[in-house]
Amino acid sequence: MLSFVLKDFIEYDPKLRVRKPILKVPSLVSEIVCYEPGQATATHHHPVQDEIWVVLEGYGEIWVGEERLAIEPTSMIFIPAGIRHGLAASPDSRLVLLFIKSPGITEAASVAPGSSVAAGAGATVPTTGSKLQLEVTDVQAEARDVIQVELRAPGGAELPAFEPGAHVAIDLPNGLIRHYSLSNDWRERDRYVLGIARSSQGRGGSLFIHQALRRGTTLPVSVPRNGFPLDPSATQYLFLAGGIGITPILAMIRWCRANGRPWRLVYAVRSAQRAAFLETLATIGGGSIHLHADDQRSGVFDPVPWLSGDPQGEHVYCCGPAPMMAAVKAAASHRDARTMHFEYFSAPSDGPAALPENRKPFMVELRRSGRSFSVPADKSLLEILEKNGIPVVSSCREGTCRTCETAVYEGAVEHRDYCLTPQEQETGNTMMVCVSRARSERLILDI
Ligand code: FES
Repeated sequence: MLSFVLKDFIEYDPKLRVRKPILKVPSLVSEIVCYEPGQATATHHHPVQDEIWVVLEGYGEIWVGEERLAIEPTSMIFIPAGIRHGLAASPDSRLVLLFIKSPGITEAASVAPGSSVAAGAGATVPTTGSKLQLEVTDVQAEARDVIQVELRAPGGAELPAFEPGAHVAIDLPNGLIRHYSLSNDWRERDRYVLGIARSSQGRGGSLFIHQALRRGTTLPVSVPRNGFPLDPSATQYLFLAGGIGITPILAMIRWCRANGRPWRLVYAVRSAQRAAFLETLATIGGGSIHLHADDQRSGVFDPVPWLSGDPQGEHVYCCGPAPMMAAVKAAASHRDARTMHFEYFSAPSDGPAALPENRKPFMVELRRSGRSFSVPADKSLLEILEKNGIPVVSSCREGTCRTCETAVYEGAVEHRDYCLTPQEQETGNTMMVCVSRARSERLILDI
């Protein structure tokens, strides 16, 4: 038996919350975290670990997915794997938290090169660094310029769990990192299925996949992340998919069917030949599908008739090209923003990230190294960090993919991204350094 006196672990630091490890065994890991008033843990998630938080002392607020909750001594919160969460101590109260995560791996990101992630009973998935090493087990044409790619662990090990709306990042052999949504049933633990459209105007990711990806290729793949989670409290769902935006929505429709939730889909494509997964959609059932092919209807999809009402309890999920997203946002301006959910796969040409005006210079300080740099008006924060040899992983470089998300220690952020929720932007715990800037004169990053 091991026994611990938890009060002996309590310690505060006015600069940053204090984390004290208590126990780490293969089945679970436990720590105490102590917060001075106002200190916080940035929004994050654990891809494969469930977590329990128990408040030992003090008061604060937590957020799990879109829910927020005041916490007090003896509060206990369960956070399932894959759900984004964070917390902050009240401005006038210290807070002491005991957390227990299971299984006891710390993070996939901390797995040593060449080792493996425990993903299921007795099975392991090979990893390199933070990436799973997965094999391309199937490549099929789905529609014109759209292929379906299936990934599995060599040896058939169980993969880290995912939720509808989740995506993975793939390191392509040509040096690009690209993000693709998972389309299959979230209960399948032996494979990830992606839909990938060929884009001749992109930077070469999809072209490479369409031209060079073959069965048997092994690819470094991130554990699934979810920036487009389905709110299970909705009473009905309206899905608006444009082109390859159908991919995360297909996974959501599978969830609706499995949970008996009513759903409607409007699927907008340039031509019917480009409509992927139509046969699959038709076999799922439990909802209605309206296909809008521009070439058959003499024009682009008009979302106004679909959004003019405001049915009680309906949530809308929209994923498609930027003009469609803008039209949907305009048509739904009368609806509660908390019921509208968007996932961008490219940044709008007239969105906040594209606006050169009001870009002011500012100072950035890196808390851990103490280095500081000035960021001129015509350069992004990411460019300045890269120029000074600070490693920040990036992919889209336009604020849509969340790869460059960086924790903010101090300062006011001017968010210009398309991936944080309004609540996350308001909290200001993290920022996308590829597009977002400072509202204050100085930002201190937690790197
Ligand atoms: S690199 Fe994609 S959000 Fe910054």
